[in-house]
Amino acid sequence: MSFTRRQMLKGLTGLVVVGLGAGGAARYWLGKVEDENAGHDYELIAAPLDVELVPGFKTEAWAFGPSAPGTELRVRQGTWLRVRFINHLPVETTIHWHGIRLPLEMDGVPYVSQLPVKPGEFFDYKFRVPDAGSYWYHPHVSSSEELGRGLVGPLIVEEREPTGFTHERTLSLKTWHVDEQGAFMPFSIPREAARNGTAGRLITINGQANSVTELPAGQVVRVRLLNLDNTWTYRLNLKGNCEAMIYALDGNPITPRPLEDDYWLGPGMRICLAIRIPDAGEEISLRDGFVRLGTLRSVASADKPGDWPPALPANPIAEPDLEKAEKLNFNFEWAGKVSVDTDNGRPPSLWQINGQAWDITDKTCADRPIATLQKGKSYIFELKNMTQYQHPIHLHGMSFKVIASNRRQIVEPWFTDTYLLGKNERAQVALVADNPGTWMFHCHVIDHMETGLMAAIAVV
Ligand code: C2O
Ligand code: CU
Ligand code: CU
Repeated sequence: MSFTRRQMLKGLTGLVVVGLGAGGAARYWLGKVEDENAGHDYELIAAPLDVELVPGFKTEAWAFGPSAPGTELRVRQGTWLRVRFINHLPVETTIHWHGIRLPLEMDGVPYVSQLPVKPGEFFDYKFRVPDAGSYWYHPHVSSSEELGRGLVGPLIVEEREPTGFTHERTLSLKTWHVDEQGAFMPFSIPREAARNGTAGRLITINGQANSVTELPAGQVVRVRLLNLDNTWTYRLNLKGNCEAMIYALDGNPITPRPLEDDYWLGPGMRICLAIRIPDAGEEISLRDGFVRLGTLRSVASADKPGDWPPALPANPIAEPDLEKAEKLNFNFEWAGKVSVDTDNGRPPSLWQINGQAWDITDKTCADRPIATLQKGKSYIFELKNMTQYQHPIHLHGMSFKVIASNRRQIVEPWFTDTYLLGKNERAQVALVADNPGTWMFHCHVIDHMETGLMAAIAVV
């Protein structure tokens, strides 16, 4: 495959310039381009950004736009997202559009979809968004550091028609690898990578510790929770006087059902809730098990009380033919080589899929796909976790339907791009291989992905 789209930056046009005050420093951020002939609608810049995560201290984050997590991109289902991505970071990078079914050239995987975008270069991403829902974007280069420093952002695809929700909020969950003074700590430690992954220490929602989100009393609010963390699986629950229903999982609608026990939201996963907000002045806490992630505070609203909207419309994802589907096995195992060879600068090889550990430093791994699917055919993947740790298993380019598990009751099969495979769980997911290309298939615990738990699946 030859890559041609990477270009040197010649000049910036149509950008919004924001003065940051201190030292008169000006930087650029996402701007809507007014020129119809520009060929893109947005210019999105990745650049260093100092943020205050710990009061009184500065954290040297990297961000897409003026905040970390980055600017929320919104686009209507069925239309084009056209973004000129500009790299003002000191390192090379890409953008991957997590969960979006798009052509391979737009998928943001270095040496598979495109060449990495070097400092001072730009890349035009253009694709049509087929499915409504909550998605996100992040680099696919040096992921533990780049995502760890804040290069993550929500991408919301709005339904074609109004849904009946009149209020909504996006809450991006991220736990930062910083110390008490806001300085970054290691994003990846081998002995942690061999277990659950290296966890951050500072809990935030939309980049704020101890966050408070104000919501209108009496209304049914659509709350999109996105796990943009490198490592952590949040065991989400709400404590307080409220009713909550689950409307969608990882972008795809389900028949609305109450949020009952903890919902385990692994890295990369999303859940869309409808919450009936109690009387003004009341507070609900959004929790991870017993730990408070943030507070939802009810404030007076002039609107008349809202009602539960109907289920969201299904996305146009092809239905796999389970009778004719071919079965493929994928075994996720520990590879058990913790020793780090410091001479070659490679991360250790700790995890493997079907006996093969992906080497993140080897640009040719994708030339050796672990499976080759025929375009248009249905497949059932048997995912077998032979480890004591959970793995949020993610596939690029296509969505799959969760149909069976030996560990949990599948009340209603659902489409997703990421399935949280529990300890020793065996699950079945099905899909139609309808998107040609070489697609990454990996655990979204970034530490696991970078120490072997990744593979390529080809569709030809
Ligand atoms: Cu969020 Cu390779 O994925
Ligand atoms: Cu992805
Ligand atoms: Cu994993």
